[in-house]
Amino acid sequence: MHLLAIREMEPARIEQLLESSQRMKRATIDGSKVPQFPGRVVGMLFLEDSTRTRVSFEQAARKLGMGFSIFGMQGTSLSKGESLKDTVLTLKYERLDGLVMRHNASGAAHLAARFFDGPVINAGDGMHEHPTQALADALTIAERKGKIQGLKVAIVGDVMHSRVARSNLWLLHKLGAEVHLVGPRNLLPRHTGKLPASVHHDLLPGIEDADVVMALRLQKERMDGGLISSLGEYASLYQINARALANAKPDCIVMHPGPINRGLEVDDQTADGPNSVIVNQVENGVFVRMAVFAEAFSNGHMEQPKTKKATKK
Ligand code: ASP
Ligand code: CP
Repeated sequence: MHLLAIREMEPARIEQLLESSQRMKRATIDGSKVPQFPGRVVGMLFLEDSTRTRVSFEQAARKLGMGFSIFGMQGTSLSKGESLKDTVLTLKYERLDGLVMRHNASGAAHLAARFFDGPVINAGDGMHEHPTQALADALTIAERKGKIQGLKVAIVGDVMHSRVARSNLWLLHKLGAEVHLVGPRNLLPRHTGKLPASVHHDLLPGIEDADVVMALRLQKERMDGGLISSLGEYASLYQINARALANAKPDCIVMHPGPINRGLEVDDQTADGPNSVIVNQVENGVFVRMAVFAEAFSNGHMEQPKTKKATKK
């Protein structure tokens, strides 16, 4: 089964993946067995830079006994002008079992899924979606808050260019959270009226009484320029710091998908402080990606949680 976009997923599938991620985490920490998929080989096409997503997919594959081949833009025939379609067809006829793909074009993972036979997992496509990041974030929220339903989550910053924001918005909405998008007009998507979220241009009302504040990176590589007047002004208006957090709930958690521009989106004290779960998001990324591989290669037979059998009297 492909994993292309949270927007296309049923809530039940999201919940099942989160439960599977929790089991993967428990088993990894206890040193007990996790499912193994020997003989499966996955192609990992990282055609845009990545640290945590790439390494966590590698770690997940290793833990599940799978093989993998990693490709970047350099060192492949993409640099000679080969198309994505021909690259995907090449990997298909070399009998890879699955593809993980990051690409700077929105929709690239969907295109790959049209030409590849096995499961395609979207590791971030342009400004569209980053589904495994949203799953890692949801696991982190559920661990800290015990639930997702009914929480107030403020997503702050460069929402327009953020695939993380889109995947999180759909996931949180599907699981019953109340989502607030907060940022300057220029960095919020057009047509926000169609999104299941309220929109705020001022930080303090936007994060008021929030259970979760998720800061986003300013994605300068996707900006044409002129969208913000100065970084200093952005930080003074939208930075998540102790002063801003005084408006959120006292036990509010602070998230950031990384990489962080420290001192811009979040200050050091907050990024490293007691409310921050940023390193937990990274850690959970491995378990979520294990669950995603297990779903992809279990042929519809995901491991179910072990329930106690009722004993007959
Ligand atoms: N690493 C995340 C992404 O690739 C967020 C970011 O780069 O700001 O979408
Ligand atoms: N959060 C995230 O996707 O990080 P990388 O870009 O480092 O993979």
